[in-house]
Amino acid sequence: MSAVGQERMIEVVDRIPEEELAKLDPIIAKYAHRPGYLIPALKEAQEIFGYLPQEVQTRIAHGLNVSPSYVYGVVSFYAFFTMVPRGRHTIRICLGTACYVKGAPEILAKIEQELCIGVGGTTPDRRFTLVEVRCLGACGLAPVMMVGEDTHGNLEPGTVMDILDQYK
Ligand code: FES
Repeated sequence: MSAVGQERMIEVVDRIPEEELAKLDPIIAKYAHRPGYLIPALKEAQEIFGYLPQEVQTRIAHGLNVSPSYVYGVVSFYAFFTMVPRGRHTIRICLGTACYVKGAPEILAKIEQELCIGVGGTTPDRRFTLVEVRCLGACGLAPVMMVGEDTHGNLEPGTVMDILDQYK
């Protein structure tokens, strides 16, 4: 998603209450006088909130005495940071060669149709986020997806939703 798209999504996200933002203060205290620790601080912040909205970025920027625009640049650069909320469960559908030729596009289409989201999307109830990956290292089980830390192989369009139904 483009930075503009992410900013638009940030606007529609509920504001984070002050007491929630205060959870950042121990992280800031830990890294405040340690130059170069912005990335670890952001990682810990993302573990708390699941994403890095503007308010979180700003508080960390002030706490670590760097500019908010610099923090934004770092968050935008690294793929493991996200500025939009993720679902409780991340579905990683593999579109690598082995999975692709064994029917991964049909699996993906079924998930997109049933969850009414596309790749990169999150369901409105924040149950699932759907992402695509290029190989999960389990080509012998193609087509494969991961849901959170669980690997599911030999997927079929007719039963893939039974698997997802296990994740509430
Ligand atoms: S190509 Fe899908 S697991 Fe390797």
